[in-house]
Amino acid sequence: MATNMWSKNSTLTGGTLSLSGIPAAQLAKEFGTPAFFLDEDAYRSRAIAWRDGLHSQFGTHAGTIYYAAKSFICTAVAQWIADIGIGIGIDVCTGGELAAALAGGINPAKIEFHGNNKSIAEIERAVSAGVKTIVMDSLFEIERVAAAAKKHGVRQSVMLRLTPGIEAHTHEKISTAHEDVKFGFSISSGSAWTAVEAVAERPELELLGVHCHIGSQIFGTEAHEIATDRLIGFMAKYRDTYGTQLPELDLGGGFGIAYIDGEKTVEPADVLPAIYAAVTKACAQHNLDIPLVSLEPGRNIVGPTMFTLYEVGTVKDVVIEGGTVRKYVSVDGGMSDNARTALYDAEYTAVIAQRSSTAPLALTRVVGKHCETGDILINEIQLPSDIAPGDLLATPATGAYGRSMASNYNHVPRPPVVAVKDGKARIIVRRENEADLLSLDVKE
Ligand code: LLP
Repeated sequence: MATNMWSKNSTLTGGTLSLSGIPAAQLAKEFGTPAFFLDEDAYRSRAIAWRDGLHSQFGTHAGTIYYAAKSFICTAVAQWIADIGIGIGIDVCTGGELAAALAGGINPAKIEFHGNNKSIAEIERAVSAGVKTIVMDSLFEIERVAAAAKKHGVRQSVMLRLTPGIEAHTHEKISTAHEDVKFGFSISSGSAWTAVEAVAERPELELLGVHCHIGSQIFGTEAHEIATDRLIGFMAKYRDTYGTQLPELDLGGGFGIAYIDGEKTVEPADVLPAIYAAVTKACAQHNLDIPLVSLEPGRNIVGPTMFTLYEVGTVKDVVIEGGTVRKYVSVDGGMSDNARTALYDAEYTAVIAQRSSTAPLALTRVVGKHCETGDILINEIQLPSDIAPGDLLATPATGAYGRSMASNYNHVPRPPVVAVKDGKARIIVRRENEADLLSLDVKE
């Protein structure tokens, strides 16, 4: 398809959306709606492109691409990352994500563990599993991880999550590196340095390096360049104080993708040269060796590889201000499978997936089936005015933070994820059912 909101094996011809040659109507018949359809080949090639891109740009200074599990994880996806092998691992931020990564057979030595309030049980699990690094987010945690390492008789590698004080140009709720935020140790307030000293006092801990994550859905490289400069300045202070250099630098994820027409998905080659230039420049300024540089893309890998398929259930016209008519199209999913519009005013597009239409376009709002006015999937879109119950509606670029943020609001079972590859489709996360929903209830 022409735009990059759709995965590489999606086609739209004569009104029929197909994935790897399978028409949407057939997918809907076989797997039901709503459902997420994942282009496996696109997923693997996006992950490999980041791994290869980092390697070719940084050479021997290439660290690891840690796929951010929070964007979407399940056992099969963790297996795909394990298959890709060298140079790629997984970033997890809860025990649940760690469990999925381990279930997929990822070598724990390629897992990075994040989170601003990891429980003692999660820390114990990570330490005993042998994760490569635990990213420290507070002084409390330094104590807790040191205690767990001591208990398990290991020396645990850790990094420090730093807040470099940057206002990223993205939605406030997904911006993470300014000062007034719950994450990490602030460089400017001195708390980052206090954390360095706290780790240095703990022989059970080995400080591998520093980390930051600026925010999400970021375009351009300016924010990553400023962060690089500040983190390398910090690493230079460490070298000056302790006489040795920290070997690793992790610059997080956040690379943006296209959701609607006119937007462009960031590709590794769009950003890696500038990040490399920022790293080499700052290292030269401080006379530091270039560290191993790692990144944590989540959305950019999985986001463009899925679309959600819904079935239209009802349509109604509402006369709004100025006599304009707005068409409300209700689909069989909603904020339980895509909370992003409600949470971040995210914008999406959609197409009728099983037929063409020559009807004039109409101002449309796509809404879900939940008992809530804010249950909006697409606030404003022009869709053919003959859209009707039974039509299939497909929303592209729902791979990241769609299924992973899905809820059971209104006791709606969460949709399945179906992987499609070489003309064959198979379930990798099955649809929940009512028995699943009731399985947690304890009867009085
Ligand atoms: N690394 C760390 C430490 C992070 O906190 C995150 C995202 C990532 C990597 C991956 O960021 P990505 O490459 O996917 O942008 N639910 C929000 C996004 C929250 C992201 C939180 N952290 C959304 O739907 O937009």
